[in-house]
Amino acid sequence: MEGKFKNTFYVTTPIYYVNDVPHIGHAYTTIIADALARYQRLCGKKVYFLTGTDEHGQKIEKAAAEKGMSPKELADRVVVRFKELWQKLNISYDYFIRTTEEFHERGVQKIFQKLLEKGDIYKGKYQGWYCVSEENFLSEDVPLEPDGSKICPDCGRQATLLEEESYFFRLSAYQQPLLDFYAANPQFVRPQSRMNEVVSFVRQGLKDLSITRTTVRWGIPVPGDPKHTIYVWFDALHNYVTGAGYDWNPELFETFWPADVHLIGKDILRFHAIFWPAFLMAAGFPLPRTVFGHGWWLKDETKMSKSKGNVLDPHLILEKVGADALRYFLLREVPVGLDGSFSHEGFVHRVNSDLANDLGNLVQRTLTMVFNYFDGEIPVPGEEQDSDRKLAEHFEETAARVYALYDDYALSRALEEIWVFLNAVNKYLADQEPWKLAKKAEEKNRLARILFQALCAVRGVGYLIYPVMPETAEKIWNFLGESKKPGEVLKSWFNFYHLTSGNRIRKPEALFPRIDLMEFIGEVEKPGKAIESRKKPEEKMEYITYDEFKKMDLRVARVLTAERIPGTSKLLKLQIDLGNETRQIVAGVAETYSPEDLVGKEFIVIANLKPAVIRGVESQGMLLAAEIDGKAIIPFFDREVPPGTKVK
Ligand code: ME8
Ligand code: MG
Repeated sequence: MEGKFKNTFYVTTPIYYVNDVPHIGHAYTTIIADALARYQRLCGKKVYFLTGTDEHGQKIEKAAAEKGMSPKELADRVVVRFKELWQKLNISYDYFIRTTEEFHERGVQKIFQKLLEKGDIYKGKYQGWYCVSEENFLSEDVPLEPDGSKICPDCGRQATLLEEESYFFRLSAYQQPLLDFYAANPQFVRPQSRMNEVVSFVRQGLKDLSITRTTVRWGIPVPGDPKHTIYVWFDALHNYVTGAGYDWNPELFETFWPADVHLIGKDILRFHAIFWPAFLMAAGFPLPRTVFGHGWWLKDETKMSKSKGNVLDPHLILEKVGADALRYFLLREVPVGLDGSFSHEGFVHRVNSDLANDLGNLVQRTLTMVFNYFDGEIPVPGEEQDSDRKLAEHFEETAARVYALYDDYALSRALEEIWVFLNAVNKYLADQEPWKLAKKAEEKNRLARILFQALCAVRGVGYLIYPVMPETAEKIWNFLGESKKPGEVLKSWFNFYHLTSGNRIRKPEALFPRIDLMEFIGEVEKPGKAIESRKKPEEKMEYITYDEFKKMDLRVARVLTAERIPGTSKLLKLQIDLGNETRQIVAGVAETYSPEDLVGKEFIVIANLKPAVIRGVESQGMLLAAEIDGKAIIPFFDREVPPGTKVK
């Protein structure tokens, strides 16, 4: 009810840790937020979109020390990387908050002080286990390991035993108020399954929460007791109020707080759905409307994460296909809320089939016909027939559904609907066969109507995809000779038939060139990466059986000839002797070895690896190499071995 008449919309992403550079997972949340922000702007709402970085705490302190930098230096560097990526992805945030900014630190101290005076924060002693990687206190029921230590159940790393003086937040006092709040606001946590999870967790009882540390120096000092620093999550969660003007811009704060939606990954659900509303209740702030916990992008069945080192670099993908293809894929591939598995096949398929074929071809085909049959001028349409009316009605129905789905944060379903309509337009053209009518002078009026209709549909599709694919939408409108950009037209002004006959269209360029799977893999997976990235020693070992190992046909190969692959810096094309056959392989070793270095050398190849085309060159196997800072080092033999010898 309130939402209906409210003319503001405040959306946030988590603020990301600066221990490492951004990856696809961070891009995902931020792209969802951007699509929602863009859509709400089309609705005429005043939008505030906040993102930023979480810069304090032990995890950052440690990462900086390992890199030989101060935490602030590390943060300064990584912030540049985040901002750069958001720019490439066309993220239209209004403010990028950093928790090291003075106004934020002051705001957090002020709230801390307030809760202290109120008695919701008190001083005590903390004894328990802490996981630095997750910046999280382990619950007491995590069992002791045989050696007397504890392992973090979330990330599998060794936890640290803490025993120190600490300030506590009286979380236990908020158990009932939280349960009442959830009951009264069933939309507070979405999707519903996550709400159930939260409620059952809170029902089990809440313990007071340690919210300061004496052993961490990199944090906001406790006001009046600076040997304590404030726990990074207490600090970080408050970015949502300080970043919206709390204590420094009352007008901004009045306008936008409480947030409409905090978008987060399900990994940080409890912090947002339990701690955060409890902190806000204690401080007397109104509570946010929704915490939306989306699923994870997985790779090889595990969550992509910087600490696991199994992340995909969005820059490589962006270079290859541009922002909109990645935005589309991430938002379309899985319904928000579920986990998704990133596969190159899936990605390339979506780009080729949905974008290059369904969308790109339709635009190209329609515009080309207008050039060929009407000299690039939008024709005056002939009389409207049933089929034309149906197409327009289909658009209206689609638009209504798409808006409702965008309103409901159901982005993948909104895109599905748009694609159903796209296919209907393609079918309309196939049925009407304008190319046949073009041959008959007496059908000129009918032809004009069909193409006019198709152009309106193309323009409409451009409008509907705008929140998700702003660049493509603008291109389409630009081809149509529109003077406005889709982002400048409010939803309530948009009309299917607002297309001006007589306007000239522009020569279209292909919106999404088709991509070749093998070439794509060659470019986004660093070539030559023969061995999976080295596993961190503290990670749990994943065993394979001897039978699984035996499936690999490892052989000694001798290099016959070697040459660089033009246009690449890393790739060599090698002809190798495998004993009873000669093969060609592509190896990403050119940064470490020149072709002459390798001729006559012997090394190990996987002979039964499925052949692949890399940069247009077929590779029938792969050599094994260690990778150090992206450079390949090949293990050679200490004596001569007959080519083809089995390695086991
Ligand atoms: O948790 N799939 O920061 P963080 C989908 N600083 N989303 C993913 C993802 C994946 N594989 N990996 C990361 C923190 N994300 C805290 C937040 S907020 C007050 C403080 C996204 O750098 C997802 O949004 O670990 C997740 O919640 C967030 O990145 C965690 O980023
Ligand atoms: Mg994390």
